[in-house]
Amino acid sequence: KPTKLTAVRGNILHFLADPSVHGEEAYQYVEDGILFCENGHIKKLAPAHEILGELPEDVEIEHYPGHLIVPGFIDTHVHYPQIGMIAAYGEQLLEWLETYTFPTERRFSDQVYAEQVAEVFLNELVSCGTTTALVFGTVHPQSVDAFFNKAEARNLRMICGKVLMDRNCPDYLRDSAESGYRESRDLIKRWHGKDRLQYAITPRFAPTSTPEQLGRAGDLLRENPGVYMHTHLSENKNEIAWVQELYPDSKNYLDVYDKYNLLGSRSVFAHGVHLCDDACQRLADTQSAIAHCPSSNLFLGSGLFPLQKLKELGVKMGFGTDVGAGTSFSMLQTMSDAYKIQQLQGSTLSAMQAFYRATLGSAEALDLHHTIGNFEYGKEADFVVLNPRSSTLLDFRVDRARNLEEQLFVLAMLGDDRTVSATYIMGEAQYKKQRCGDKHCN
Ligand code: GUN
Ligand code: ZN
Repeated sequence: KPTKLTAVRGNILHFLADPSVHGEEAYQYVEDGILFCENGHIKKLAPAHEILGELPEDVEIEHYPGHLIVPGFIDTHVHYPQIGMIAAYGEQLLEWLETYTFPTERRFSDQVYAEQVAEVFLNELVSCGTTTALVFGTVHPQSVDAFFNKAEARNLRMICGKVLMDRNCPDYLRDSAESGYRESRDLIKRWHGKDRLQYAITPRFAPTSTPEQLGRAGDLLRENPGVYMHTHLSENKNEIAWVQELYPDSKNYLDVYDKYNLLGSRSVFAHGVHLCDDACQRLADTQSAIAHCPSSNLFLGSGLFPLQKLKELGVKMGFGTDVGAGTSFSMLQTMSDAYKIQQLQGSTLSAMQAFYRATLGSAEALDLHHTIGNFEYGKEADFVVLNPRSSTLLDFRVDRARNLEEQLFVLAMLGDDRTVSATYIMGEAQYKKQRCGDKHCN
């Protein structure tokens, strides 16, 4: 097999552990470093002056002076079909679903349309530096075929699933416990483990599934080792009250999913804004993960996420955008919203913690930390080149940052898709920002 070699040069940062636990041991920062990749995997990371003499002669080095190279961002919760209704006005969760979401998702019965939207969605992700995501489709199996077709063509590591929804929704979006089971099973056969694609069993949330359907979801999870379980949990107060009515025998919202054996190290629950200590402990004990989606929580007025408490109780946690309830695809903007949500609770979130959560932390939440999330030897070489001077304001402000922490914090607060100069997938540049001639735009 021919060997494909690539090397990029710049200031390189990645995480080996949680910086809130391990401090400076948690990350490696190589100023003027080279990241050397072979056949799409990380081969070596070292200071340029050390490694330059050792590199094979035929390898071309792409130099990004003054830029920051970090692992590709990982979005642990997002809805691709909702890109067409991002920024829909005036409602909280349950009304927002009825008014905007369900009518939008109806169109994904058409696979050609779904592929068009998937293409727009993936362009948006990659131009924001996001290289892996855990993605909701719609109830239509063809929405998942469309998404995986497009992700596969780009060689992206993506996880997606067909929504399971057999009650409390319009007829045109309803499956049944049996059809949902069969269609999911067939999609798993077709896609799970194909190239870099993986499948997630995806009950929308407890209110839109009958007990029979959640039972069948549990069957699917047991019968298909390695697949994911992806749903919503405790996002909004009215939603929680509704779950209590629909499942009166459950101790709490999480307990509904627990009864149907839907917890585990490949189970990801979006939100978890309002959780009792029992539920947090159960998440931790089962190694289930929470996807924290700050811009969505603010946009839908869902509440303030108790990040500190979940961390203390040892709950795995990644960042998600939750577009279309989230208002940005950018993980930098997501960090900014996450910080402000902590500020509102008298707590905080350091820049190091934010970058950790958006990369290795999210990889851990998806149980993919042996594959992606940092630059350890052998990992898949998905990474992002950030330009700390990508706007007039950033250029001015970054000059006044006194150290790495400050520079990262400023990037997290002020950065967005403009900040992403290039996105590499398996060692190859898949996206490069257009140069506009402006001095900041390089
Ligand atoms: N709960 C159930 N469905 C959804 C959805 O599409 N978005 C969000 N944010 N929450 C949900
Ligand atoms: Zn969601």
